[in-house]
Amino acid sequence: MALLEVKNITKSFGKTEVLKGIDFSLEQGKVLSIIGSSGSGKTTLLRCLNFLESPDTGTISINGKTIYNAEQHKKIKDDELRSMRLHFGLVFQSFNLFPQYNVIENITLAPKLRLEEEKLSAAQKKARIDEINENAWALLKKIDLTEKAKSYPCELSGGQQQRVAIARALALSPDILCFDEPTSALDPELTGEVLRVIRELKDSNCTMIVVTHEMEFAKNISDEVIFMANGVIEEQGTPEDVFDNPKSPLTQSFLSKSLESF
Ligand SMILES: Nc1ncnc2c1ncn2[C@@H]1O[C@H](COP(=O)(O)OP(=O)(O)O)[C@@H](O)[C@H]1O
Ligand SMILES: [Mg+2]
Repeated sequence: MALLEVKNITKSFGKTEVLKGIDFSLEQGKVLSIIGSSGSGKTTLLRCLNFLESPDTGTISINGKTIYNAEQHKKIKDDELRSMRLHFGLVFQSFNLFPQYNVIENITLAPKLRLEEEKLSAAQKKARIDEINENAWALLKKIDLTEKAKSYPCELSGGQQQRVAIARALALSPDILCFDEPTSALDPELTGEVLRVIRELKDSNCTMIVVTHEMEFAKNISDEVIFMANGVIEEQGTPEDVFDNPKSPLTQSFLSKSLESF
């Protein structure tokens, strides 16, 4: 059974139909890349998956359980929404770290806030806080930034900030980690360190959806590639299918333009 199954997602803003019926599924441990021109609906799709936007139609299921059904979305309560969001982590193009908190606080803030919602004894709470802190230090080690634990975002390079944003998303143990053009706000010499972290996550079996303009990276890291155009999945397949033998003229034209810019 697929870990994630997305069926018939549509989304309009006013009269603009941005997503026109998106269907795909993703297996545990696989990496799906989404490529496509600016304005094709990639960010809107990720925002729908993270419930930052409510799809107008469609369903989202995790492990066979429907967690979102557009027909019922008006009835969703805030606490349900929070638990639905926990299935997905999102790393933004522009890092979006909390500037007033240091690195370790950025990573532990959300799990500690979640703890407040649970009814725990003082001892249970202390044990969970210790766990959250330990996990945060382990994540910092994973992104190779232990020495920056007490630094503030403004004291870090863009690449370091993005690595912290990845650790922060992982701190909530999402089923699926989503990236929205994680390197496009970075100077070229800093993209490598972020792509390396994403590569290591794949090697540790993390399920990911990566919207990216880094074609070479997408080709190397993906199990499946989706090319989006005008709010639909224009083409989908293995990296070899989509990059080496694109069938749709729109995919062919997009790829030849992308390659020109190298
Ligand atoms: N909140 C919004 N209100 C109105 N239009 C929006 C909104 N968000 C996105 N759009 C429109 O949806 C289209 C797709 O945008 P987006 O999902 O950001 O594409 P991409 O990430 O592929 O560049 C664009 O035409 C954009 O202007
Ligand atoms: Mg976008």
